[in-house]
Amino acid sequence: MNNFEYQNPVKIVFGKGQIAKLKELIPSNANILITCGGGSIKQNGVYEQVIAALAGFRYHEFWGIEPNPKYETLMKAVEVVRNENITFLLAVGGGSVLDGTKFIANASLAPKGEEWNILKGKYIPTNGVALASVLTLPATGSEMNAGAVITRLESKEKLAFHSPFSYPKFSVLDPETTFSLSQTQRANGVVDAFVHVIEQYLTYSVNSPIQDRFAESILRTLIDESQTYCAENNYDTAANVMWASTVALNGLIAVGVVTDWATHVIGHEITMLHGVDHARTLAIVLPSLLKVQKEQKREKLIAYAKHVWHICEGSDDDKITQAIDKTENFFRNLGIFTKLSEYNIPQTTIAEIASRLNDRGWRALGERKDITPAKVQEILTLAF
Ligand code: NZQ
Ligand code: ZN
Repeated sequence: MNNFEYQNPVKIVFGKGQIAKLKELIPSNANILITCGGGSIKQNGVYEQVIAALAGFRYHEFWGIEPNPKYETLMKAVEVVRNENITFLLAVGGGSVLDGTKFIANASLAPKGEEWNILKGKYIPTNGVALASVLTLPATGSEMNAGAVITRLESKEKLAFHSPFSYPKFSVLDPETTFSLSQTQRANGVVDAFVHVIEQYLTYSVNSPIQDRFAESILRTLIDESQTYCAENNYDTAANVMWASTVALNGLIAVGVVTDWATHVIGHEITMLHGVDHARTLAIVLPSLLKVQKEQKREKLIAYAKHVWHICEGSDDDKITQAIDKTENFFRNLGIFTKLSEYNIPQTTIAEIASRLNDRGWRALGERKDITPAKVQEILTLAF
């Protein structure tokens, strides 16, 4: 296992009815900005619960943070924070609302004009407005990590940033908030969380069986619970999927090991160019990436076949092939297509993505830094 330091400061308040605890969790003198998406929380009763819990608090509301949150929208919220002297941001929604709120927290205290440079890595935030979340969509892990992904329409960029000021002070996870999710949103969430684990596990071995067993248990839980989770409102199933999605990307399984993240980098380009949901882009890229990288990932693919898919028969090559097929079928059985052509994406996109990554200098992706733009083209051609 490699050396590491790990600290995760996010307090998790988990379970039925826990939104009512907001009144104990937020400082009583806070000047709050509640940040929201397009309105799902008004239809499923979450908004009512939040407002009831905040009786007596001073708060404002900001609506309209869209899926794949846009810089252009978020800058309007930054104005509100600056003008109203907001001291606490409460994100209520899915990963997009949470990520958008992380940007608002960091950008509001940045010098004017430097906000987008946070995404470009040219301005390092030195402070941030306190933030917390009420999560309504298990998928991203944003509720317990310091990452966020923001889209800028003007420059056609979808970029990620990490900042210590992006950690929520706390996140409330009530599995009942998932009961209003569509089948599609549920399947997307499962696939996103699944691929987060794969990106941190399916690389090369550094002799860290504890990390491997943690990762495999999350993958198995997602596989075992996914069909019920997508078909019905079952509290225990929703609770298991929600917690699995959180621990999939709260940093724990990444420490001491090497990570990949090439599937995400390529996937973000597909979303930027064609608006495909984040998780669906991962389901397109991952099976082909595993095929192209199967020699580099050989040892871990064999372990993955055994421990996650219980494949014990056949040669090592057979096991690898079966494990990759089972991964793709897992996505397809959740109703998620795995080919670019199934989303009517033109073949010209393949070269376009490779050249966008090349222009940005992202020429060495993956755990071995051997996924070049040419290899990205090979992966996407296989995924066409
Ligand atoms: O906007 P509203 O009306 O709230 O509707 C949302 C949205 O339309 C709806 N929704 C959320 N909770 C609901 C609900 N509908 C009914 N009932 C509920 N309980 O679902 C739609 C999608 O929401 P969104 O927040 O976009 O989905 P998700 O949580 O999958 O977030 C995706 C974003 O997170 C980024 C992605 O790139 C993408 O921009 N990611 C963030 C990561 C992180 N911070 O660590 C890591 C991920 O890899 C990912 O890149
Ligand atoms: Zn993701």
